[in-house]
Amino acid sequence: MQVPLAFPSIDQNDIENVIRVLQSGQLVQGSQIKLLEKAVAALIGVEHAVAVSSGTATLHLALLSLGVGPGDEVVVPAFSYVATANVVELAGAKPVFVDILLDTFNIDPYRIEAAITPRTKALMPVHEFGYPADMERIIEIADRYSLPVVEDAACALGAEWKGRKVGAWGKIGSFSLHPRKAVTSGEGGVLTTNDSNLAKFFSIMRNHGIDNASGVMDFVAAGFNYRMTDIQAALVVGQLKRLKTIIAKRNVIMDCYDKELKPRFFQKPKPPLNGRTTWQSYHIVLNDDVAQTRFLHFLTEKGIGANYGAQCIPVQTYYRKKYGYTSVEFPVAYRAFSQGVVLPIFDSMTENQVSYVIETVNNYKDLIHVIQ
Ligand SMILES: Cc1ncc(COP(=O)(O)O)c(C=O)c1O
Repeated sequence: MQVPLAFPSIDQNDIENVIRVLQSGQLVQGSQIKLLEKAVAALIGVEHAVAVSSGTATLHLALLSLGVGPGDEVVVPAFSYVATANVVELAGAKPVFVDILLDTFNIDPYRIEAAITPRTKALMPVHEFGYPADMERIIEIADRYSLPVVEDAACALGAEWKGRKVGAWGKIGSFSLHPRKAVTSGEGGVLTTNDSNLAKFFSIMRNHGIDNASGVMDFVAAGFNYRMTDIQAALVVGQLKRLKTIIAKRNVIMDCYDKELKPRFFQKPKPPLNGRTTWQSYHIVLNDDVAQTRFLHFLTEKGIGANYGAQCIPVQTYYRKKYGYTSVEFPVAYRAFSQGVVLPIFDSMTENQVSYVIETVNNYKDLIHVIQ
């Protein structure tokens, strides 16, 4: 049996939406982008949503809008997808890494203060794998130091912390619509904010620095082409309406994993006590004496699309060479990186596929001491 790691939730309606855009000839800057932005703003509960070309472009614009540049620092978790730190570098600033908590895979809020310096320009927590970070505590620290918070919610569209959607807690929320997420536009990203000046900045900077407000095309900044196409927006607007159902189905799969996977040689993720996760990934952490690569190889041979979860960013070559970081400084992030494995989870996963993954993992015998 073949079980992919992820599979997008695209139905006939979504396909027909895309066809309609293709037939209309209006492939960019049309009505679909506006529909998408309106839907995301309503979903998150914010005034503004601005669609761009990726969940990396979102973060880049977010940092630029806050004036982050050379000489500045941005506090980020040590365990995330590399884009979280890359955008800080792209803005000319320095990412300052903070270790994570192993039960949430998110930044350890109790370590944030020690990372703040006079050069800190923003805090950028990540809702890793769709699991909400402790936003109350993070906002409390940010307020105390008068720092803006950018939520990297790339995997977390629809997740909540204490009843409020992630992406609505910080000054700016950032989402990805990459195919590994619960809903997808192929490539794409959305920024959320209640600040109309920031929303205007995002709109101008995604489109070559053009300001149309006066009715005349005026180039007011050196912007990017970070636009999302209407083809991409059309693909995702229908999925957004099904987001609740998609997440509910992911919860059913996670329940099966939780009940039936025998944690003989790994730690299972737990649902958050004070929030809701999107289960973008089901991330297990192997015991230290279990070889990650061997287990991944075993799953691949069995037709199961497993993979590494995320990176311990400070020890990736670029960051290690530039800043001299070692794994010893970020023991939890390093453990999640070197022992973490994501198992398949997607809304169209069949019962047979779920059972097959459970059975295969439960029968893993390439271990000496776990087997007895
Ligand atoms: C935490 C995090 N931030 C940013 C990104 C970048 O998003 P994109 O691939 O849409 O550029 C990702 C992508 O998976 C991510 O997981």
